[in-house]
Amino acid sequence: MDYKNKIIYQIWPRSFQDSNHDGIGDLKGILRRLDHLQDLGVDLIWLSPVYCSPNTDYGYDISDYYNIHPDFGTMADFDALLTECKKRGMGIVMDLVANHTSDQHPWFQACLNDPNSPYRDCYYFREDINDKEPNNWISMFGGSAWTKDPLKPRSWYLTTFTPHQCDLNWENPRVREEIANVMRFWLDKGVSGFRMDVINTIAKQPGLPSWHPEKKGYQFAKEFMTNLPQSHAYIQELIGKLSNDYDFITIGEGMMADNDACALYAGEQRGELNMMIMFDLHLQDCGPLGKYDFRKLYHWTIPGFKSIIFRWQTDSQKRNYWVANYMNNHDQPRSISRFGNDRQYRVESAKAFALMNLTLRGTPLVYQGEEIGMTNCHLEQDEWRDYEAINIYGTLQTMMHLPKFIAKKVVQRMTRDHARTPVQWDDSDYAGFSDHQPWIKVNPNYKQINLKSDLVSETSINRWYKQAIALRKTYSAFNTGAMKPVLVHHKQILAYQRSDEQAEFLILINLSGSPAHFDLKTEGRILMDSYTDPQPRLLRPYEARLIQIR
Ligand code: NOJ
Ligand code: CA
Repeated sequence: MDYKNKIIYQIWPRSFQDSNHDGIGDLKGILRRLDHLQDLGVDLIWLSPVYCSPNTDYGYDISDYYNIHPDFGTMADFDALLTECKKRGMGIVMDLVANHTSDQHPWFQACLNDPNSPYRDCYYFREDINDKEPNNWISMFGGSAWTKDPLKPRSWYLTTFTPHQCDLNWENPRVREEIANVMRFWLDKGVSGFRMDVINTIAKQPGLPSWHPEKKGYQFAKEFMTNLPQSHAYIQELIGKLSNDYDFITIGEGMMADNDACALYAGEQRGELNMMIMFDLHLQDCGPLGKYDFRKLYHWTIPGFKSIIFRWQTDSQKRNYWVANYMNNHDQPRSISRFGNDRQYRVESAKAFALMNLTLRGTPLVYQGEEIGMTNCHLEQDEWRDYEAINIYGTLQTMMHLPKFIAKKVVQRMTRDHARTPVQWDDSDYAGFSDHQPWIKVNPNYKQINLKSDLVSETSINRWYKQAIALRKTYSAFNTGAMKPVLVHHKQILAYQRSDEQAEFLILINLSGSPAHFDLKTEGRILMDSYTDPQPRLLRPYEARLIQIR
C-alpha cells in the first residue's frame, strides 16, 4: 500500500461524537461524521483504541483485543463503520498497543490467580532486592515502574506506564505470536493497518539492570527500555509473518525515537515499519524532568523549532526513511495554544501549522478539531480526567517538592486533557457533541469556535485544510519531491522548497507574532496565503504562503 500519499486523520473516539445520549463519543457517532472527513480529503482514519479497556489510560490499557468497548458500541457498529468508510474511499488504521496489556487482560488475570501460571512469563515478574523494587526505573507517568504482586510477598511486575498497564515480555514467543494473531484478526476484517503504540520499548535490556544505581530515586532508564537492538528483530519477525498475506500500512510510535532510531525502524528496505511518528517538536519545551518540567513549559525558540524541522526533513531524505508529521494528537496540548497564539492570531496560527504539516516531507497526521482551530481549555482540578495529569500532580509535590499551587499550574499547562475535550461541531448545547453532559468539560469557547461557524467564515480554517490537502494530492512534489530548506538563519520565518520534475513550490511561514521581512526572489503564483492581500518580501503575524515557482 502506498503510505506516502495518504492523509491520515486521528480520531480519539471518546471525544469525537456521541450518538446514544450518554456523553461519550462512540462508533455510530463517527459514522455520522464521515462526510466531514471525506469532504476534507482524508484517506485513512486512525482510531485511537476502541477495544475493551478498564480505561485507566483511556483505551491504551487493553483487556480484550478482539472486542469493542461497550462505551463505543458493538462489533457490528465497527463493521458498519468500516463498510461506510470504504464506500467513501477511506480506510481505518487501528491503534495497536503491544508493549503492554491491561491488568484486566485474561493473561494477566491468569497470573494473578495462579503463581505458577505459564502466562507469568508473558510479563515481567521479578523478585525484589532488599525489600525494594527490582530496579530503579521510573514510570513514564511518575513514580516506580514496578507494581507489587498481590500473590507473592516479594514479587513485582513491570508497569512502565500506569500501574494497570503490564509490560509484555517479548522474549516469549507466545507474546509475539499473539500480537500477530491480533493483527490478523483485524486485517481479516479489512482494516488498512496499524499505528503501533510505543513500539520502540518492546525490548528491554536483558537482566533489567538499574540505571545508574548510584543515583538516588527513580531514574529514567531510556537506554535500557527504548530502541534496543532486539526491538528491530521483533518487528521484522512480526511484519515478516504478515506481509505476504496482507497489504497494510504501519505507523510506529516511538517514545523519544531519535533520527538514528527512526532510520532503522522506518528505513526503506528494512522490512520494519512504513513510518515513525516524529516526536522532537513536542519535546522542545520539555526539560530533563520530562514533559511536566516546570522550568521549561512552553519555552521554545523559533530557531530551535526550525532546526528540528530541518534536521528531520533533511536527514530522512538523506538516509531514506519516512516520518509521520503532526502538530496535534491526544497526548499534547493544542498546538495553537502552545506554539502559536490562540487569541489574537488563532486563525492565522492554525493555518500556519496546517500549511507546514501538509507540505512537509512525510505523511501528515491531522488530529480531530485542529481543522477548526480548537484551543487549550482551562480545567479546574476536579475537571481533570487524565491519569498522567492526576498522578504527576502528586509526583511534582512529593518528588520535586513543588508547592501545590505551582504543581497545579504546571498540570494545567501540559495536561493531555487539552486535546481530549469534545470536538466542537456547532454552537448548540455541548457543542453538538452530545445532548447529555459529556464525560469531560466542553471548552467554553465552543460558541465562537465550531465547525458550523467556521464553514461560513470568510477565513475558514477547514477550507484552508481542504485546499492544502487537495494540492498535496495533486502534486507529487509534496510527497516524494525533494525538500530544500531556505532562509535557514531567518529568526522568524520557516521557509523551504518542495520540488520534482512536475512542479516546484516555495513555502513561507511566519512563526512569530510580529511582521517579518525577508529578502528572497519569490517569483511565481501564490496558490495560498492566509492574508487576503499578500505583500512582497513581508509576512504579517503567522502569515503562511504557498507559491508555485514552476
Ligand atoms: C502512547 C499513547 O499515545 C499514550 O496515550 C499512552 O498513554 C501511552 N502510549 C501508553 O500506551
Ligand atoms: Ca455514546
